[in-house]
Amino acid sequence: MAAAEALPPGIKEIVDGGLGSVPPSYIRPPHERPQLSQLTESGTTQIPIIDISGLHSEEERPQILQQVGKACAEWGFFQVVNHGVPHGVMDEMKAACSRFFQQPPEERNKHRSQNFEAPLAYSTSFNPCKEKANDWKDVFYVRDFPGMGCNGFDMAPEICREAFQEYRRAVQMLANLLHEAIFESLGLSLDYVKKAVPGIPWLAMGVNYYPQCPDPSLTLGATVHSDSCSLTILLQDEVPGLQIRKGDEWIQVKPLANSFVINIGDQIELLSNGKYKSIEHRVVTNLKNARISISCFFGPKEDAKVTPLTELVSENEPALYKEVSFGDYMNNLYSKAVQSNKSLMDFAKLVLKDETY
Ligand code: OGA
Ligand code: NI
Repeated sequence: MAAAEALPPGIKEIVDGGLGSVPPSYIRPPHERPQLSQLTESGTTQIPIIDISGLHSEEERPQILQQVGKACAEWGFFQVVNHGVPHGVMDEMKAACSRFFQQPPEERNKHRSQNFEAPLAYSTSFNPCKEKANDWKDVFYVRDFPGMGCNGFDMAPEICREAFQEYRRAVQMLANLLHEAIFESLGLSLDYVKKAVPGIPWLAMGVNYYPQCPDPSLTLGATVHSDSCSLTILLQDEVPGLQIRKGDEWIQVKPLANSFVINIGDQIELLSNGKYKSIEHRVVTNLKNARISISCFFGPKEDAKVTPLTELVSENEPALYKEVSFGDYMNNLYSKAVQSNKSLMDFAKLVLKDETY
């Protein structure tokens, strides 16, 4: 872990101090920059929107599972509405995150850390000391891993603690509901899912702040990556920025009031033997508006062995991935800067698939 003094200042701090151009450490090489046409809202293609209230009804569940399965196989991303998380809890969470970032930098910097396993860690970009170009964002991580011995949600600053705790409770329930639905949608019985699929007690929450940017064509709020966890639940404010890769295109995930964005992470791609994809995504910046989003990453226990489920492997569909422990997978991530082209998945790949997605 780097000493606090060695960590670069947050980008919000730099922007708030007055800034006419993008500092060199944030400028991406030309081939990694977003094209101008991709920065404005364009295209009408949208990721699926699913009303999941029917998951609680025996009669309606099969039809919702079908929608979930199709979204996971074709997109790896979908938005959910009527998800059971009270809108008041979502609003209060967004307000609490704003409060955190509106504090003077000295207050935020009390949590300054690049330790990937600390209960609380405020940092800039993802791994600023190892990256060639930094992401245009600051993140406040709050973590609660089994066996950690302490819980970041209970240690969060007072101005946001209650909202974080409340949000976490509600989102954990949603995560469990979706996790079961996603595996059931693969044609597996709920009994098998409960027995054979590692659960998701592991939670890291990233509160992301993407300041307004003097030149969005030079940098990215989050570089191209896939999520290493099992499942991500994202709450975004009304400012667009998230884009997902679909073939050769980047599709913008349009903010939709009172919804969550759900995406499949690498662990579900592994368990499903590639039937469901952990899709690459990125965040573009914005000339005028700062953007806040909250990513909740759910995953298995550190020692869980993750390998394609036997029910999904056959002579015709051999295992594409070898068994890896989730802890080893994550350590591989932490040792690197985020890299494009899903190189992290190579860690688990048996056969390198000649495929672009
Ligand atoms: C992430 C991520 C997207 C967003 O935190 O992994 O992809 O919109 N965030 O902030
Ligand atoms: Ni992500």
